[in-house]
Amino acid sequence: MKKIAVFASGTGTNFEAIAEAIENQKLHAEIVCVVVDKVNAAVIEKARKRNIDSFVFTAKDYASKEAYEKEIVAYLQEREAELCVLAGYMRLCGEVLLNAYGGRIINIHPSLLPAFKGKDAIGQAIAAGVKVMGVTIHYVDASLDGGKIIAQRAFDVDPLWSHEEIETQVHKIEHILYPETIEKLLEGK
Ligand code: GAR
Repeated sequence: MKKIAVFASGTGTNFEAIAEAIENQKLHAEIVCVVVDKVNAAVIEKARKRNIDSFVFTAKDYASKEAYEKEIVAYLQEREAELCVLAGYMRLCGEVLLNAYGGRIINIHPSLLPAFKGKDAIGQAIAAGVKVMGVTIHYVDASLDGGKIIAQRAFDVDPLWSHEEIETQVHKIEHILYPETIEKLLEGK
């Protein structure tokens, strides 16, 4: 069974979708830990309920990104994580993590990259008035949401939808596309 680590900063609905896909044997992997940079993030409780270890840290408590990433890498290596799955992890990966896991870190982003990189991608897309939105899964490199694209799924935007309704649609797609894509990657497809 391939060992994966999920990185998150918030609610963790994508973490949950991945965990459920594993439980339903649609995804043949094991989540060996979650890495969380917010002490109050709801994802921590979601992991605890499933008896999954979590590494929770506050970036400000460390002298540098390098310092906390060294601890993350040690934690991942102890648990023999093979793939890092970023699911709402709102931080750029630094050299330490990229050197240890380069080519084995993936991220999900709520836009059709390369459009609307960075924070509040949905808000940016609404402001631009686009008629088609979507979700992208890509490899992580040192750039902001700029690594090689692995998968994308688009949807038509109903002009009457609120920000919240668009977010619901984005999540619906993410929760299917992310487990599917991870399975394909792990199976080498
Ligand atoms: C997801 O929609 C994900 O695409 C987005 O954060 C949300 C996390 O939701 N990621 C980014 O914006 C990364 N730049 P979740 O905590 O419920 O999985």
